[in-house]
Amino acid sequence: MIQELENALNAALEKLKLELPSGFRAQVDAAADLRFGDYQANTAMVLAKRLGMNPRQLATQIIEAIDLGELAEADIAGPGFINFRITKIAWCQKLAELLGDDRLGVALAEPVQTIVVDFSAPNVAKPMHVGHIRSTIIGESLARIAGFLGHQVIKDNHIGDWGTQFGMIIHGWKTLLDQDALDADPVAELLRVYRSVNSLCGENDDIRDICKKELVKLQGGDQENLEIWSKCVELSKAGLQGIYDRLDVSFDYWYGESFYNDRLAPLVDKMIANDAARESDGAICVFFDDDEKLADKPTIVRKADGGFLYATTDLATIDFRVEKWGADQIWYVVGAPQQLHFQQIFAATRKRGLNPEMQHISFGSILGEDRKLMKTRSGDNVQLVDVLEEAVERASKVIEEKNPDMPVTERASIAEIVGIGAVKFAELSQHRMTDYVFNWDRMLALQGDTAPYLQYSSVRVNSIFRKLENGVELDAGRLKITEDGEVHLARMIVRFGEVVPSLLDDFRPNLLANYLLDLAKAFHSFFEACPVLKSEGETQNTRLVLCELTSRVLVKGLELLGIEAPERM
Ligand code: ARG
Repeated sequence: MIQELENALNAALEKLKLELPSGFRAQVDAAADLRFGDYQANTAMVLAKRLGMNPRQLATQIIEAIDLGELAEADIAGPGFINFRITKIAWCQKLAELLGDDRLGVALAEPVQTIVVDFSAPNVAKPMHVGHIRSTIIGESLARIAGFLGHQVIKDNHIGDWGTQFGMIIHGWKTLLDQDALDADPVAELLRVYRSVNSLCGENDDIRDICKKELVKLQGGDQENLEIWSKCVELSKAGLQGIYDRLDVSFDYWYGESFYNDRLAPLVDKMIANDAARESDGAICVFFDDDEKLADKPTIVRKADGGFLYATTDLATIDFRVEKWGADQIWYVVGAPQQLHFQQIFAATRKRGLNPEMQHISFGSILGEDRKLMKTRSGDNVQLVDVLEEAVERASKVIEEKNPDMPVTERASIAEIVGIGAVKFAELSQHRMTDYVFNWDRMLALQGDTAPYLQYSSVRVNSIFRKLENGVELDAGRLKITEDGEVHLARMIVRFGEVVPSLLDDFRPNLLANYLLDLAKAFHSFFEACPVLKSEGETQNTRLVLCELTSRVLVKGLELLGIEAPERM
């Protein structure tokens, strides 16, 4: 609709032979207040100012010149807004089009970009904390959205499999490991070992030295340590895979930090040779003298003792992604505390003459009910697995209350879909930069801005079709809208095609989440005001088409958020 209105509007401007600023194109937006129209344009106000004209007069001229055919009616409001009211005929035509369009009105992006999405990226043998949860959920959703828009998306899990923590883990493996516990739950045992040694190191300098030596041995290629390391990585990956399967999250690659080990030394040498880095107090640093914000914040790429850093690995990773994958864009879905790190590696990359579009897609924290960083009762960071377990358990209880007769196995599989959907939606319906308060009851409520509400809405739409005794043949050629409830639902369905492409402007899946809530609300009001099963003929056909499209959009929209829609609930 926006496209068609913009075309008509721009044709009218041409007809008026105004002296438009070069490259000017009038734009149409969804109306802020639906009482005045479906769409609006502030073109007259923008242009009048530049052309020294009266905005209302210009708007009048535009309205007289514009040829909207049967698409819409236009009128003027306030200081010169042009409001468009889409005709019922045009809504029906659009619905007919959407019925035959498996993209549901979402145009493919242009140009197509190769986009590497770097997300999740937890650290081996360390717990996956809330920051990783957010990254995993937001990253997966953004990757799905970009893929649906037609981009070439590469999902890469840059796990921390080569950090200083391995000194401690190896020492712990050699001295504290409980083999039975490791067989039973490797991730938990690795974590226990890491935590024990970590706290020993806090108390005892000798142990800290031993750990350091183990790390140096590992870095020097010691066989035994390499084997322990590789086992830890393997076990951690298997544990992570279990969580990702449950979350329906997947990766094309798991090129963790260790993958780049051999590339670090040559990279730093090259940077020195190209004057991208230079020595300072024995260390090799990148200075950003021409960058106002970073002028006093150089980044070290090789320490005086020869060791490389997180930043060095990230620079080598960018080279690889650009050279091997032809990345046009790299998106880092990583918490706000790493902002400076990314500013530095982006600046260093530009300094080296590479120019992929790099985005740090950051996010705030998850808070407990006390508005402090979410912790467990014992004060530890909350673990993702525990959050998922509890969500599913609680969802199961809610389902049992509402639907005591449902067989237990069915309940279990629906509880999984609902519980995990609720956690994801609570995350994705917030602006990513806000710190959000984790509240179980709120996120699992059937009435409210929640995943269960959307899932329930989709179940409810589908149940209409189940109740139709003789099945249905939807007829796109026989549509007639009369009621306000129908108009509003049509309007919301059509909006899907307008919302999805805008999600990547600022990487905001929450706009999709909120849109889906509006769609579901429009559906429920429609369903209350406009009987479907009791209607007949053209009216019933039209209402069923509205239901069908609502269902398709809900399912697709949820899928883009990484949330499943159950058959029953
Ligand atoms: N492993 C890091 C952490 O847990 C996140 C890595 C993000 N990706 C990157 N390319 N630096 O903080």
